[in-house]
Amino acid sequence: MIFELTEEHLSVQKAARDFAQEVLKPGVIERDNLQKFPTQEIKQLGELGFLGMMVDPKYGGGGMDAISYVLAMEEISKVDASASVVMSVNNSLVCWGLEQFGTEAQKQKYLTRLAKGEIIGAFCLSEPEAGSDATSQRTTAIDKGDHYLMNGTKNWITNGGTASVYLVIAQTHVEKGHKGINALIVEKGMPGFIVGKKEDKMGIRGSDTHSLMFTDVKVPKENRIGEDGFGFKFAMKTLAGGRIGIASQALGIASGAYELALAYSKERKAFGKPISQHQAIQFKLADMATEIDAARLLCIKAAWLKDTGKNYDTASAMAKLFASRVAMETTVEAVQIHGGYGFVKEYHVERLMRDAKITQIYEGTSEVQKIVISRAVLR
Ligand code: CAA
Repeated sequence: MIFELTEEHLSVQKAARDFAQEVLKPGVIERDNLQKFPTQEIKQLGELGFLGMMVDPKYGGGGMDAISYVLAMEEISKVDASASVVMSVNNSLVCWGLEQFGTEAQKQKYLTRLAKGEIIGAFCLSEPEAGSDATSQRTTAIDKGDHYLMNGTKNWITNGGTASVYLVIAQTHVEKGHKGINALIVEKGMPGFIVGKKEDKMGIRGSDTHSLMFTDVKVPKENRIGEDGFGFKFAMKTLAGGRIGIASQALGIASGAYELALAYSKERKAFGKPISQHQAIQFKLADMATEIDAARLLCIKAAWLKDTGKNYDTASAMAKLFASRVAMETTVEAVQIHGGYGFVKEYHVERLMRDAKITQIYEGTSEVQKIVISRAVLR
């Protein structure tokens, strides 16, 4: 077993770190305050190849491995978790889903532009009454011969307003339960498709989260991904990879907060010496460093399993469960180390603490990850 990154990994990591520090950091507090989507910054991320990192170069992607993706996600998330969720959804849910299961025509039409970041995508599974219980889809897509007629509502959709392409999970054969679900590609502008209200969120406020409404939307048959009835499995398989992305986001939020707290503890003096010289702070830093390292190893292990063609469903759930818990705990401690300064926006850690919470909720709550893990353990 080799615990060493390759030259290529290190160069991807550096490129992401430089971009985060130089481009994302200057405006991140303002974007969070104003709930402003990082339009220009996402465009630049696309130009640098970070929106389709793992896609085959023949479809405009970077052809990189999932370990590179983890490293890049960590660096971007250290600074701006709103930008990194856009990156995560586009890479691991939309691009990966289309590349793995889409037809050649779908790849030509959508994937290339998505992978280059010319357009961005959204993954639409959650509904007002189907969050964790994803088999209970109420959105319907009724087979009308050459098209599906879609009706329903989706909630909390990341990139909901800014996306051009939406992978929508909908029920076609209600009597077949999860075996009657399909994944359909819906384009912005299709008649009957309306982007609903933007959510006013606690964290990742620079990202764009909307409800979506579908009223008699005619979706051409050729926009179905996979065989009839493949939609639920499509969602589960895609989310297994998505969870590596969100685990890495949580890892980045944690390591970003830790790095800020570490630097602050060396500068700030109390009782005649830097607070880093007090054991109360040293013990916190030791716990943070250890937990972050463990979270990183779980993320990289899940990515390695994916890269080597092995099953990563359980590993990605473990990485997400653990890294999101570490993100919560580390950011709370980072605020504590900063004291009063930690409670004001200028020092970044309060934002990271707010951003951390969503990593325990989206792409499957911590409880959903425990369902996935315990089923594997008991199998
Ligand atoms: N790969 C392939 N197939 C899978 C699978 C996987 N990883 N996981 C489940 N399946 C299959 C099962 O084999 C089963 O098929 P068969 O009946 O043919 O055997 C079928 O799917 C149903 O599976 P379950 O019986 O396990 O389903 P369940 O109802 O018990 O639910 C669950 C399982 C794990 C709780 C699942 O519903 C789940 O993951 N829920 C959370 C959904 C989620 O993550 N939502 C996030 C929304 S997207 C998002 O957040 C993006 C964003 O904005 C950032």
